[in-house]
Amino acid sequence: MSSRIALSGVRHTFWVRGDHDKQLREFVALDGLDLEVGAGEFLTVVGPSGCGKSTVLDLIAGLATPRAGRLTIDGRPISGPGLDRSVVFQQYTLLPWRTASANVEFALEAKGGLSKSQRREVAREYLELVGLAEFANRYPHELSGGMKQRVAIARSLSYQPEVLLMDEPFGALDAQTRERLQEELLAIWARTGTTVVFITHDIEEAVFLGQRVAVMSARPGRIRQVVDVDLDRSSAQESDLRATPEFARYRHEIWSLLREQHTTTHSKELAHA
Ligand SMILES: Nc1ncnc2c1ncn2[C@@H]1O[C@H](COP(=O)(O)OP(=O)(O)O)[C@@H](O)[C@H]1O
Ligand SMILES: [Mg+2]
Repeated sequence: MSSRIALSGVRHTFWVRGDHDKQLREFVALDGLDLEVGAGEFLTVVGPSGCGKSTVLDLIAGLATPRAGRLTIDGRPISGPGLDRSVVFQQYTLLPWRTASANVEFALEAKGGLSKSQRREVAREYLELVGLAEFANRYPHELSGGMKQRVAIARSLSYQPEVLLMDEPFGALDAQTRERLQEELLAIWARTGTTVVFITHDIEEAVFLGQRVAVMSARPGRIRQVVDVDLDRSSAQESDLRATPEFARYRHEIWSLLREQHTTTHSKELAHA
């Protein structure tokens, strides 16, 4: 596997105020984190809430700088955001004064190279892909939460970034929409060869999407284990992949890894009590 993105010995901290003394203390969110993402790979990162998943994504996106360690893309240090990487955040991040279509066109303007009518056409194509063709002229306040998130996904996909970074993008969607978008995302990934790093706290989502699943542990956040998921997803749209014994086996393996660390942390806390 040739790696596009590499993180080694990454440490990140935040300054937080103590509950009692209000003193500033350094909170270690990530420490000794190593991770490699291959070119064209679909990697999912799963871990409990607060373990540092969003922090990892922000670092790869170049939105934060690590306190220590190395982060590279194609061997070059990551020193800030770039058009080679696109992020879909947990919360909707649309421009409120632009319609759904104009929000997608905005990303295409930033990339450049297309005429106004071409941008409109591409926006239409991607809004259709996320099932929002009829809502192209609506403003964000006229859309439901799930619809806003689908516009954000359309926007990220429309300019075909080499690396797509997704932070629990389907978390706020109803189950049916989520499953449909998961399938669409796999189809788009298979077609475009985009490298995808997809964060989730949902084990099934991690197994369904990831060629590999990186399981995180908390305090400090690091990659505990990377599980290779060898499932035939080519027929995911026709057959119920989630109902197969292989799927259940992977789900259980990752569940056990997450469960184990929860138990370990818990018994350590009891020992200190
Ligand atoms: N800006 C911040 N200031 C202080 N603490 C933060 C900040 N951002 C995140 N944290 C803390 O760092 C840890 C990891 O956060 P985050 O990466 O958002 O976790 P996750 O995405 O896995 O839920 C959490 O304990 C969180 O409270
Ligand atoms: Mg998060």
